[in-house]
Amino acid sequence: MTKSTISAYTKAGHYWSGVTLAVFIGFHLFNQLVSLVGGNAHIMVMQAFRSVYRHPVVETMLLAAVAFQVMTGFLLIFTRKRSSLAEKIQVYSGLYLSFFLLFHVGAVLYGRSLGLDTNFYFAAAGLNIYPATFFFVPYYFLAVSAISLHVAAIHYIKTGSLRWSRAIAVTGVLAAVLIISGFTNGFRWRPMPPANKQFIRQSFGG
Ligand code: HEM
Repeated sequence: MTKSTISAYTKAGHYWSGVTLAVFIGFHLFNQLVSLVGGNAHIMVMQAFRSVYRHPVVETMLLAAVAFQVMTGFLLIFTRKRSSLAEKIQVYSGLYLSFFLLFHVGAVLYGRSLGLDTNFYFAAAGLNIYPATFFFVPYYFLAVSAISLHVAAIHYIKTGSLRWSRAIAVTGVLAAVLIISGFTNGFRWRPMPPANKQFIRQSFGG
């Protein structure tokens, strides 16, 4: 197999695992937006979605897609020089997403291994407890923004439509602001259950 055939397969694989992840992320971010209604509403929606993505076959596919996406993304960076602004945005947002995905999914699996329910309060604790909030607000804000910037850059490279690419990017940044507001009750902060407080404090102090 030649080098260019391998890179064509890597590109196609990255695209299809990206599409698989995008379906989950669409529902997942909708779930995070429900935090604007409140913690209980967020938990109810998550319970409904979990009946699908926590199915062992679906969850195995999802976690495999995460690992595959990160690995193929790294490989693709080295295939050629990215010189346009859109290509650079695609690469840097992808790099941040790789860091985020490994850390985020790792934290969820670690929390579950300790017997914690990785529900609304699992994510909210980091966002509401001082000083962890200084890490988690930019961490989640950048993750949601990076998703939309990554998709907007790909859309621009494929279609050349600046109007739609901008709209995708702006929608994502707006969603990021709304999610952070929902989780922190508009920066008026939410009280957290003791087990979630302890989980955050043992790693971030406070
Ligand atoms: C502010 C934004 C986000 C918050 C608050 C959040 C919160 C959570 C929570 C609480 C879980 C555990 C779900 C459960 O136990 O059922 C989870 C799982 C997960 N999240 Fe996020 N998430 C956010 C953004 C993202 C983004 C942007 C991605 C992808 C790039 C992502 C990918 C995942 C994945 C793959 C899982 C593992 C699902 C599983 O197998 O259980 N999340 N997230």
